[in-house]
Amino acid sequence: MTHVLRPIGLLAELTHRCPLQCPYCSNPVNLDRKSGELDTATWKRVFAEASELGVLQVHLSGGEPTARSDLPDIVAHCREVNLYTNLITSGVLLDQPALQRLYDAGLDHIQLSIQDVEEANADRIGGYRGGHAKKLDLAKRVVALGLPLTVNWVVHRQNIHNLGRMIELAVEMGAKRVEIAHTQYYGWAFKNRRALMPTYRQTLDAIALVEEARRRLEGVIVIDSVVPDYYARFPKACVGGWGRRAINITPQGRVLPCHAAETIPGLVFDNVKDKPLSEIWLNSEAFNAFRGTDWMPDLCRNCDRKEIDWGGCRCQAMAITGSASETDPACSLSPLNATLRAMAEEDSAAEPDAFRYRRFGG
Ligand code: SF4
Ligand code: FES
Repeated sequence: MTHVLRPIGLLAELTHRCPLQCPYCSNPVNLDRKSGELDTATWKRVFAEASELGVLQVHLSGGEPTARSDLPDIVAHCREVNLYTNLITSGVLLDQPALQRLYDAGLDHIQLSIQDVEEANADRIGGYRGGHAKKLDLAKRVVALGLPLTVNWVVHRQNIHNLGRMIELAVEMGAKRVEIAHTQYYGWAFKNRRALMPTYRQTLDAIALVEEARRRLEGVIVIDSVVPDYYARFPKACVGGWGRRAINITPQGRVLPCHAAETIPGLVFDNVKDKPLSEIWLNSEAFNAFRGTDWMPDLCRNCDRKEIDWGGCRCQAMAITGSASETDPACSLSPLNATLRAMAEEDSAAEPDAFRYRRFGG
């Protein structure tokens, strides 16, 4: 019987509406529509339940969470129930009054995503003209308010050449932290692999550049970066291990162990409209499906890294092998690792496809 820990982090996808259309979006290909979104009272109940369950941090995400007019009310409530709030935003809707309302409500942190350092390329990647300038302006206003700022760069073949300048710009902006997020190839990004996949050489250079910057900028800015899966030796402990510390809730209230869990056919997801969060965390079929190590194939079960990476990513295993119960093919010990690597090399060597932008209706 797997021992169930308390969750620490809750990613709340408040809405899938978003003015941007990034081709690597982590939202599902079938986006939830506004008409089915949870109302304010339900979100408040869920956050109170999350706090009781042990959650410390709420990531208010989307889509674009600032598209919800009740966001300040939600932030204030999170503060009342002792949750640390991190707003994950594209920033383009946050004019000064909107930012001030969130600040006054007690928002703790802002994570701003930017698509590139070159304005035209950034606006092209996000599919939103004028977005880049708005983001730079927002960053200034956030820092002026004294709110801690993290800048998030999603890295891929169409911006990886600017990685050094991305880190410099984050420092110039006064960010406390910069996140180098190599694209994760599920959902929209999986569809856009040929447009996004960097070469092995580019990836190695990016890793070296980050290591050098980390040494040089110690004490100036914290640099977080995860080695991209397709070229890694061992997989990442996706979401810190399935059902260990993280919860994801969709705009309509389905409770998922990770943002891409709905790509695994056959899993049944409970909804906060029907059950308390604690019951879902402890007993839901989806959370228990890959919790701990009992579900693992022999390769992982007999491996001394099984409680380090927890077998990697279930959604990646699903996307590449057709079974979520297999070892993540990003692991160099997996028999399918060479196939994954060959796929990545083929995609990165091909002419980049045009973007298939994230839109309602897939
Ligand atoms: Fe991790 Fe499984 Fe690979 Fe071992 S065999 S490193 S547990 S994915
Ligand atoms: Fe689902 Fe990794 S994204 S387990």
